[in-house]
Amino acid sequence: MKEDSKNITRRSFIERTGAVAAGLTILPGSVMSGFGHRAPSDKLNIAVVGIGGMGNSNLKNVKGSENIVALCDVDWGYSKKVFADNPGAKAYWDWRKMYDEMGKSIDAVIVATADHSHAVVAANAMAMGKHVYVQKPLTHSVYESRLLTKLTAKHKVATQMGNQGSSAEGVNLTIEWLQNGEIGDVTKVEAFTDRPIWPQGLNVPKGEWVPETLDWNLFIGPTKMRPYNSLYTPWNWRGWWDFGTGALGDMACHILHPVFKGLKLQYPIKAQGSSTLLLTDCAPNAQMVKLIYPARVAPKNAKMKLPQVEVTWYDGGLEPPKPAGWPAGKNMNDAGGGVLFHGTKDTLVCGCYGVNPWLLSGRKPAAPQTERRVDKAMMGGHEMDWVRACKESPENRVEAKSNFYEAGPFNEMVVMGVLAVRLQGLNRELEWDGEKMEFKNIGADDKVRLTISDNFTIVDGDPKFNRPNLTINAREFASEMIKHTYRDGYSLPEMPA
Ligand SMILES: NC(=O)c1ccc[n+]([C@@H]2O[C@H](COP(=O)([O-])OP(=O)(O)OC[C@H]3O[C@@H](n4cnc5c(N)ncnc54)[C@H](O)[C@@H]3O)[C@@H](O)[C@H]2O)c1
Repeated sequence: MKEDSKNITRRSFIERTGAVAAGLTILPGSVMSGFGHRAPSDKLNIAVVGIGGMGNSNLKNVKGSENIVALCDVDWGYSKKVFADNPGAKAYWDWRKMYDEMGKSIDAVIVATADHSHAVVAANAMAMGKHVYVQKPLTHSVYESRLLTKLTAKHKVATQMGNQGSSAEGVNLTIEWLQNGEIGDVTKVEAFTDRPIWPQGLNVPKGEWVPETLDWNLFIGPTKMRPYNSLYTPWNWRGWWDFGTGALGDMACHILHPVFKGLKLQYPIKAQGSSTLLLTDCAPNAQMVKLIYPARVAPKNAKMKLPQVEVTWYDGGLEPPKPAGWPAGKNMNDAGGGVLFHGTKDTLVCGCYGVNPWLLSGRKPAAPQTERRVDKAMMGGHEMDWVRACKESPENRVEAKSNFYEAGPFNEMVVMGVLAVRLQGLNRELEWDGEKMEFKNIGADDKVRLTISDNFTIVDGDPKFNRPNLTINAREFASEMIKHTYRDGYSLPEMPA
């Protein structure tokens, strides 16, 4: 049926015009029933957990129109200014206490802590019916990503991962070119980031006195206790396996998003990783990961097929080889990384967040605009797209751009890269059963040898290397990385069926 102004659906209207403008069609909160159904003019009561860094940017992007009712951080020194700038919000150290005391008056939670605590903070909020905006990478493990995906369906809350590029022009245009068949069928993708720009490849530092303004026990949260050192937090937790996910976890949610969405990826079937010296605690300086995805069914309107595809990731200064025809002298790095989609007809190149897509042939495609854009995506639009979704009823909500139905499986791709690198000592291509969340070819008795630290000294002009190691059961090591054991006092809601 041809759409005219009478029969155009609210969904298609939003998809064509952008989300925020469509708020006009939303019924006022008084007409709707149940929690979370609101008029756009109604303000959300938002709590933010982890406010010292990116959380403050997210907060600033919503506070103009919404109520910030509670702020939580474990480091009141680093976060001092943010607390001071928001005197109307109740201040907390422990998000569990905040949920206990203010659960009833909070509508939505923004989570911008270190990666290892994203899932436990978000999942418990979702189980209370709260909408959540969670920074990238969505979670620290595969299991946690699967859980957040399923909790989204169970509790019907509005969700958004903080990969703001997903709302912007670059990712959407890249997806349109792919799906319009501009480069044919894609069997190989290469991607990279110039990160880390924080220290990696380090030995575990000695313990230090904990500053009075930091609650180290609360920072550790669900993971295992270790002595404090100022090398861990703020910011540098990225390079420590217990807290972060290395350069891949930090940047792949921005760089691989057009790959995951544009090529309709789901679970990989094979994974392999390699890196500079791999240590038990700290991520390596540079890594390479290859993931293989099986053939997928192309969407009805797509003009390309989706055969098996191999996605290779590089970081730490490594880049894919420049393909034949690459303009001499042109830097591959655009905004922190880049992607090469190798198609049967052409090669599509774009930067981080899908920015500045171009074809190696020089041809300039004019694909029809099919993907929804979000106004000022990188400057608060992504957050406000989520705010809009929070106020819509679950029955006819237009999900936010990086909602967990997509961000959950996408994040599984990202943390699979961490698994591949940390299991490289098995010296095999790992075979993955996505549904079951387990490796098919790690035997019960397989062992993996891990290097604990890298000690180098010069004695009488002679270099001496000392690399203590340990050998552990590979299946147990993998299982613990796929589904973490949480410390006492921290638990996740049950995995919905
Ligand atoms: N989307 C983006 O472009 C972007 C940019 C930067 C960071 N990030 C993401 O944002 C998150 C935070 O990164 P950052 O650079 O702001 O780090 P950061 O260390 O600068 O800030 C994190 C804040 O969270 C606090 N925190 C840690 N654990 C906590 C807990 N359990 N409860 C309450 N507060 C806690 C810390 O004290 C700190 O104030 C990460 O997931 C990161 O990947 C996203």
